Amino acid sequence: MNTHQTSRDREAQRFSKRNIFRAELIYGQGFNSPGGTAAIDMLCKDVPKFPGMSILDVGCGSGGAAFHFARNYEAKVVGVDCVAEMLTLCRERHQEQSHLPIEFQQGDIQTLPLDANTFDLVWSRDVFMYLEDNEKSWRKIYNVLKPGGYFVYVDFFKGYSDISQKFVDYMKICNYYLQNLYECDRLLRELGYEVMRTVDITAWIADLYGDNLVELAQNEAEFVREYGRSDYDHIVSRWHGKIEYGRQKDLLHGLAIARKPKE
Ligand SMILES: C[S@@+](CC[C@H](N)C(=O)[O-])C[C@H]1O[C@@H](n2cnc3c(N)ncnc32)[C@H](O)[C@@H]1O
Repeated sequence: MNTHQTSRDREAQRFSKRNIFRAELIYGQGFNSPGGTAAIDMLCKDVPKFPGMSILDVGCGSGGAAFHFARNYEAKVVGVDCVAEMLTLCRERHQEQSHLPIEFQQGDIQTLPLDANTFDLVWSRDVFMYLEDNEKSWRKIYNVLKPGGYFVYVDFFKGYSDISQKFVDYMKICNYYLQNLYECDRLLRELGYEVMRTVDITAWIADLYGDNLVELAQNEAEFVREYGRSDYDHIVSRWHGKIEYGRQKDLLHGLAIARKPKE
């Protein structure tokens, strides 16, 4: 029971300033998900890009993707996140490269007002797993996309059937609300999107977690000095857990690419 409580406490602290920097030590500056800018390029490889395109980054975290889009895709970017600490960090970093056309807005994607028909691409990575209901937000994303604009959605999913009780408990502790890839595909279509593809990328993400573990081991002394032994052990065990849940098909990682139809 105590362990359970401790895990819940850890989750409540997930996006504290300390944990944002701790995540960046694992994932790289600006990131709270594995793979960095190379992963973004891979996940967006089939999406048309052109200078001056407008991109919305939903749940931009500490800004890694937003800065990458502005710098390397020559895009105008709006980054939205509900956590004030994330936005403070993004804005501080933006001051050092203020020539990049990025605007950061604090708010919950479910309620934040955004203009219709504005974006060529909406990107979101590892955000909707925290939301109980995606329908309202995905309707809004549809509305803010220009006709022909793309929604690239990368997230955690649950397996299709026979999910273990252990993983059900894990989802509760983590406050994850996971759908499966079929449900995701169906909801996108119901909302009017043309679904280009929904793909299981679990094996690829597991390799990225594996890379994180190798780097963590290499930087163990620095990590422990900065965050303590208990955090180090927790992270290592958590990463092994995610890889194992993936192997058991309880936890999937998926990519959905959907488009608002051209008028
Ligand atoms: C796991 S982090 C991923 C951050 C970033 N997308 C990345 O890949 O590095 C999830 C982010 O989603 C944000 N988030 C969660 N729920 C949100 C919501 N309802 N509206 C806006 N942002 C949200 C969190 O504050 C956090 O920064």
